[in-house]
Amino acid sequence: MHSFRFTVLRVALFLFLLLSSASILYTTAQNTRSARELSDQAMEGTALTLASTVEAELRSGDQLATQHVRRIFSDRVVAYALVSDKKGGIQFHTNPGLIETQLKEEKLDQWLQSGKAYGRRITLRTGLPAFEFNYPLHLPDGRSELLRIVLHTYPADQIVSKAQRMWWTVGLVLLILWAIGILFDRMFARQLRLQKKLQRSEQLALIGQMTAVLAHEIRNALGSIKGYTQWINEKMESSDPIKTGLSFVLKGIERIESLVRDLLIFSREETYRLEPLAVDPIIQEVINSEIFQGEKKIETTIEPGIQVFADKEKVHRILLNGIQNALQVMEGGRDLQIKADSKGKWVEIRIEDSGPGIPEEECSRLFTPFHTTKTTGTGLGLAYSKKVIEGMGGEISLFNHPEHTGAVLKIKLPKTARS
Ligand SMILES: Nc1ncnc2c1ncn2[C@@H]1O[C@H](COP(=O)(O)OP(=O)(O)OP(=O)(O)O)[C@@H](O)[C@H]1O
Ligand SMILES: [Mg+2]
Repeated sequence: MHSFRFTVLRVALFLFLLLSSASILYTTAQNTRSARELSDQAMEGTALTLASTVEAELRSGDQLATQHVRRIFSDRVVAYALVSDKKGGIQFHTNPGLIETQLKEEKLDQWLQSGKAYGRRITLRTGLPAFEFNYPLHLPDGRSELLRIVLHTYPADQIVSKAQRMWWTVGLVLLILWAIGILFDRMFARQLRLQKKLQRSEQLALIGQMTAVLAHEIRNALGSIKGYTQWINEKMESSDPIKTGLSFVLKGIERIESLVRDLLIFSREETYRLEPLAVDPIIQEVINSEIFQGEKKIETTIEPGIQVFADKEKVHRILLNGIQNALQVMEGGRDLQIKADSKGKWVEIRIEDSGPGIPEEECSRLFTPFHTTKTTGTGLGLAYSKKVIEGMGGEISLFNHPEHTGAVLKIKLPKTARS
C-alpha cells in the first residue's frame, strides 16, 4: 500500500517536472518569437516613416530634394538606401559612387505595378544582418520607382537578444527544478527502501517469535518422547524385533531435534560480539572439526595475517555450513578449495567446489529459508548465513564457477569496524 502511494507520488513528481519544464520552454520560445516579430515590426515602421518622408520630399519638386533625402538617410540606423527606375538603373544612392550603376533585380517592373511595399531580413556582403525594405515611390509625373532602404538590425534586435538572454535564466531555473526533483525522488526511493526493510524485519520478527514459541514447545514434548523411547530401548533385549523399530523412532527424534535447533538459531534475534578475527585460524578450526574427519582433502590458499571484524561463533557456523554444502555435492574427483584474500576494505573468503554447480532455476531461491534439495537438509544454512553476514555488515553470494563446473560460495566481511 505504502509502496503504491510512493510510486504514485514519484510519477506525479516526474509529471509535474515534465509539464512545468515544457510550459516554461514553450513560453520562452513564444517570447523569443514575439520579440523577433516586434523587432521586425519596429524596423518596418522606421523604414516606412523614412520612405514616406522621402516620398513627400521628392513630391514637393524642390530643387534641394536630393540633398534633403541624403540628410534623411544619414541616420545611423540606415545601412544604405537607393532609388532605382523600373529597369534597375540607380538614380540615387547613399553611396554616390554607385549612382547610374545597374541594380540586378528581376521582375522589378511587375512589382512596381503591384505597388506593395515589403520588408525582409538579409545579410550584407560584410556578413552583418540587415533589414531590407522595398517601397514603390510614386513620383509627381506618374512614374513609379523603387525606394530600397536597408536598415541595421542591431538597435531593434536588442529586444531579441534580451529575449534570448532569457534562455540562460530559464536553463538555470530548469536545472535547479530538476535537481530538486531528483533529490526528492532519491529521498522517496530511500524512504521506500527503509519502509520495505522495516516491514520485512517486522514480518521476520513476528515469524521469528512464532517459530521460537513453537520450537520450544516441540523441544519440550520431544524431550519426554525421546527419554521414554530411550528407556524402552534400553530395557529391550537386543534380539527383539521391536528394537529395530525403536531405532527408527530415535533417528526420527534426532532429526526433529536438529530441525528445531536450527529453527531456534534462525529465528532468534541476533546479537553480535564483533571483534578482530584472524581468518586463517578460524578456517583451519572449521576444517579440523570432528564432522570433517576422513573427508576429502580440503586445500586452502589464505593470504597470511588477514583479519575480519566479525563474530567468531557465527563465522564458524557459516563456514561449517558452506563447507558441508560443498562436500555434499562433490563425489570424489577434485579437492575442495578454500581461498581468502584481502580486497581493499574487505576480506573475501571463497569456498570453491567441483560439484555439479547450481541449476539456473535454483539461483533465486538459494537463500530462502527452508529451501533445500536434500532429503536430510533443513534449508536454513544459507538463509541463516545471509542473515548474520549482512548483520555483520558483509555480503554473501553463491554462484557457478566461471572457469569449471562447480559452485563458489563467496563471503565478504569488513576488515575493520564500520564507522
Ligand atoms: N555448493 C553447492 N553446490 C550446489 N548447490 C548448493 C551448494 N550449496 C548449497 N546448494 C543448494 O542450496 C540449498 C540450500 O542450502 P542450505 O545450506 O541453505 O540448506 P541445506 O544444506 O539444504 O540444509 P541445511 O544446511 O539446513 O542442513 C541446498 O539444498 C542445495 O540445493
Ligand atoms: Mg547446508
